Amino acid sequence: MAQKIILTGDRTSGALHLGHYFGSLVNRKKYENEYETFIMAADVQTLTDNFENPEKVSKNVFETIADNLALDLDLDKTTLFIQSQIPQIAELTVFFSNLVTLNKLLRNPTIKTEIAQKKELFGQDGESVNFGFIGYPVSQAADILFLKADVIPVGEDQLPVIEVCRDIVDRFNSIYGPVFPKPKAMLSEAPRIIGLDGKTKMSKSLGNAVFLKDSEEETISKIKSAKTDSGSTIEYNPDARPEISNLVMLYALTNNISTDQAVDDLKGLNYGSFKMKLAESINTHFREFRQRRIEIASNPSQILEILEIGRERVSIRAKKTLEDVRHAMHIDYENQFKI
Ligand code: TRP
Repeated sequence: MAQKIILTGDRTSGALHLGHYFGSLVNRKKYENEYETFIMAADVQTLTDNFENPEKVSKNVFETIADNLALDLDLDKTTLFIQSQIPQIAELTVFFSNLVTLNKLLRNPTIKTEIAQKKELFGQDGESVNFGFIGYPVSQAADILFLKADVIPVGEDQLPVIEVCRDIVDRFNSIYGPVFPKPKAMLSEAPRIIGLDGKTKMSKSLGNAVFLKDSEEETISKIKSAKTDSGSTIEYNPDARPEISNLVMLYALTNNISTDQAVDDLKGLNYGSFKMKLAESINTHFREFRQRRIEIASNPSQILEILEIGRERVSIRAKKTLEDVRHAMHIDYENQFKI
């Protein structure tokens, strides 16, 4: 039997951070031998809320690909590519857009939260939100389905978007015939890392992130200024004490231990010493990753070559999927007109 397929994508609005790493990147490495893996730089999706900053979007294709390559992936098994280089994704988006109601998209929790976070661009009540942004779950379904992917490693915040994809599969298959497998989201052990400011999500655009490519000094100074609370004990209790629990979680993740074990190790430390210890363990955990990343980033032509190979590999599959889709939708006219 053919190997199952993992597909995942990164928006190219900035370099990747700890939230991406522990939410999704770890699984890309962990499962590289069990699945055929495809990693996409989602530049088209990024343009939906960055259409006024195209240079930023393209520059960060390089950054996100470099972050992924620093995972030391086996490039015989894993393919990296750029979303805008695969026109079949745009084609599928158009076909899929008929299968989702606007109401459902507007009620989607991920979309609602993101519109509310982007008031400057989309207005106080989202009154200026554009068509492309509301529709990004539809184009994300196309990202996933053009490869007929089975498993999608994402952070918890993306689950409602993956649900849109699963609904589209049901609708498509029931109307036009069984073309697509129904993909499943894959959550990591840490599907949600909150920001250093205590905001709900670590995020490039909220300015509360430790980037994977940050230097050791930058990491120390960011962790030092991370928000805590007025308590003095270290515990893991995300509901009552989200900020300190988030730091405990990062300590546990970077040391490969449970949060219980982390709390045990950290007992008695004051917040200042805990933060120093945490910064150190982040720096140790990412030391090799960061060294590899510096080497990779110093060789852009090699990155370009890897992406060119990726484009070739996925183009073959994209053409095949679109043949299946056109046939199922009766728009394969070379066959329709045969008597
Ligand atoms: N929306 C995802 C995010 O914000 C990025 C993404 C784009 C994606 N296309 C995808 C993730 C396809 C999984 C599958 O992180």
